[in-house]
Amino acid sequence: MALRPHVFLTSEQIQKRVQEMGRQISEDYPEGPIYLIAILKGAFIFMSDLSRAITTPVRIEFMGISSYGQNKSTSGQVKVTKDLDVSVEGRHVIVVEDILDSGVTLSYLINLLQQRKPKSLKIATLLDKPDRRMRPVTVAYTGFKIPDEFVVGYGLDYAEDYRNLSDICVLSDD
Ligand code: IMP
Ligand code: MG
Repeated sequence: MALRPHVFLTSEQIQKRVQEMGRQISEDYPEGPIYLIAILKGAFIFMSDLSRAITTPVRIEFMGISSYGQNKSTSGQVKVTKDLDVSVEGRHVIVVEDILDSGVTLSYLINLLQQRKPKSLKIATLLDKPDRRMRPVTVAYTGFKIPDEFVVGYGLDYAEDYRNLSDICVLSDD
């Protein structure tokens, strides 16, 4: 049966929450620059909106990490496919992620970035599926906690499709 996207979080709900997150981050970091590191590709839209909701000066950086291949669940194997172009030593760093699921990706990445001696290191994730956690991850900024459903849109994909939907949708076969 064909999979169809059903709206789960509307664009308006997402925008409202991202503005709140940006306000909170701006209050927590009165001085910049904050190095925002978005994880490609899924976080690209969240990064775009969140960075514009932050009033403290930011630097925009990207990293590529793959742990999934073409499937709906983690392979458990993490690989850096694009590293940072800059040093983050002595810098305030916020990792910007689309969704925290098993925690395999972020626990690997946090460990890697910690070795580069940032002044501070926190995580901002738009979505969190706490039911699926295999590795503990401490998150400073969470947009929405969601149940264990596969979601797409607002940057999130299923086999590279649906990233450009403005809403976040559950993919199901009815
Ligand atoms: P983790 O390593 O299991 O925490 O996986 C995090 C990554 O898995 C995210 O950055 C997404 O790329 C992908 N992912 C996890 N759940 C979903 C989902 O529901 N929809 C789309 N991608 C997902
Ligand atoms: Mg993905």
